Amino acid sequence: MKVVVLGANGRTGMLVVNEALARGETVTAVVRSDAKRPTTRHERLTVLVGDPCDPDFLSDAFRDQDVVISALGGRRPSKKATSIYWKSADAITEAAAATGLKRAIFTSTALLFPAGNLFGRALRALVPNVVRSARRMEERLFASDLDVIFARCGFLSDAEETAYRAERGALPAAGSSVSRPSLAQFLVDKVQSPFSGRQVYGVSRPAA
Ligand SMILES: NC(=O)c1ccc[n+]([C@@H]2O[C@H](COP(=O)([O-])OP(=O)(O)OC[C@H]3O[C@@H](n4cnc5c(N)ncnc54)[C@H](OP(=O)(O)O)[C@@H]3O)[C@@H](O)[C@H]2O)c1
Repeated sequence: MKVVVLGANGRTGMLVVNEALARGETVTAVVRSDAKRPTTRHERLTVLVGDPCDPDFLSDAFRDQDVVISALGGRRPSKKATSIYWKSADAITEAAAATGLKRAIFTSTALLFPAGNLFGRALRALVPNVVRSARRMEERLFASDLDVIFARCGFLSDAEETAYRAERGALPAAGSSVSRPSLAQFLVDKVQSPFSGRQVYGVSRPAA
């Protein structure tokens, strides 16, 4: 499989690149500057430097590829930083239509699931830009012709755990966090299993 990874230098993106390579995939890692190039060297790894919000750049990156994984996300909860979600979604949709790329997998936030309690509602109120931008991203992709998976997560940790629980349409019970290695496993598992249509998963740590 030929896989494009956006946000490839990010903490989850890097793990996705390494996991996909370890499982035999051919990877195009996209980063936004030379300084962010991954240190990994591999015969099945190509690195492209460019703007993931530029549909022309993405059209070049997507040519002859099977699937794109986006691990893009704002590093702060500001309106500007979080706009990467929907701005990249617009560009990905346009570039996919131009090149015939059919499958896309996105990291997203569990804050888009209905809040079950007061704490959940308070959390959403604390980071309204994350919620708005992620919703706009998902709506854009839902309206496209792409077969798409959203991996909605709670808090990400750097624990060494790689197991996970994934549930269609809801966060697994007591699943408010997940490790980045687990999330990377989920994303690459989805690359390797055929999917179609639009699917939303809640992804969390394994049950205690
Ligand atoms: N952190 C959490 O607790 C949490 C919770 C739920 C969901 N998520 C989501 O899970 C995913 C992975 O999170 P993470 O913490 O592993 O990610 P991360 O380490 O913060 O990496 C984010 C990636 O997005 C890129 N990026 C951000 N803004 C960009 C822009 N304007 N143009 C180009 N690239 C841009 C970063 O590139 P640069 O290095 O160049 O900035 C980096 O590659 C993200 O979608 C995040 O929103 C995170």
